[in-house]
Amino acid sequence: MSTIILGIESSCDDTSAAIIKDDILLSNIVAGQTVHESYGGVVPELASRAHQQNIVPVVHEALKQADVSKNEISAVAFTRGPGLMGSLLVGVSFAKGFARALNIPLIDVNHLKAHVLAHFIKEKDENAKPPEFPFLCLLVSGGNSQIILVKSYDEMEVLGQTIDDAAGEAIDKCSKVMGLDYPGGPVIDKLARQGNPNAYAFSKPHVLGLDYSFSGLKTSFLYFLRDRIKEDPDFIEHHKEDLAASLEATVVEILMDKLRKAARQYKIDQIAVAGGVSANTGLRNTFREHAEKYGWKIFIPKFGYTTDNAAMVAITGYFKYLNKDFCSIDLPAYSRVTL
Ligand code: KG4
Repeated sequence: MSTIILGIESSCDDTSAAIIKDDILLSNIVAGQTVHESYGGVVPELASRAHQQNIVPVVHEALKQADVSKNEISAVAFTRGPGLMGSLLVGVSFAKGFARALNIPLIDVNHLKAHVLAHFIKEKDENAKPPEFPFLCLLVSGGNSQIILVKSYDEMEVLGQTIDDAAGEAIDKCSKVMGLDYPGGPVIDKLARQGNPNAYAFSKPHVLGLDYSFSGLKTSFLYFLRDRIKEDPDFIEHHKEDLAASLEATVVEILMDKLRKAARQYKIDQIAVAGGVSANTGLRNTFREHAEKYGWKIFIPKFGYTTDNAAMVAITGYFKYLNKDFCSIDLPAYSRVTL
């Protein structure tokens, strides 16, 4: 008999549901939230209200597209954390109610592990090989910048992480200072394609080991603009492409310096990237250059699986289902949790 997993993701501002049958993805529906755009960042209370409105139609559509009925589902996997508590609670409560009503197992999923395991999402007729254990994964999103040693579907060790801001957070904040639309990552990416990455130099951190820091870059960017605007009030408008390209290049350089160090230190040449920032063109290109230069076997997720999505939750749930790793109905959501 087939194993069918319903995955639910609601950790931040995307409501998503996905269906996986055995290890094949049948549907992955994501409802974004435009309500935050005018605020320049996610407003937690508005996010949870939007999740409440979206969750039922999103699950309905995921079932419809997968051509699966509720009664065929073997288990419900949900994001337990980390994330915004109000947002998480919507998905967690829905998953619990759904599983209880159908009397099927419930599986809790760590959002960060799910990002890493996005590399194991398989679409129909797809035969790309996933990474083999152990591999390294650079997880870069709005909330995290980590180098992870992935030993198995479940066993992951954080080798290094940011001691302050995440890479995505730094890009978003710099973009906000430039007066660009939210979220800044994709806007910076687009502008950077037309700019000179060597136009300006911003400060790079000196952090020991494999840890990262991005708060200094943010401050350096802010002070640089403040000084230049004194000379030319329209400096940002006149140089936005070069600013975006130089900012992006600095972030990519910081990320890759430590990743190369980790690859050398752990003698691993299978290197993956995951999380929202892995959609970035400059980062993806640099990964490809590193594959050539250092003989890395690289794994870059499809765009749809870089930002928050339920397909990654469903595949993580599928592996836990095979191990009968279920959770109890009274398990709380966690806003902060490590791997
Ligand atoms: O993984 P994600 O969807 O959410 C979490 O933080 O969990 O990542 C969102 C982050 C935001 O900071 C966003 O600006 C960034 O990913 N991002 C990008 C790009 N697309 C999304 N950053 C750079 N270039 C992009 N193309």
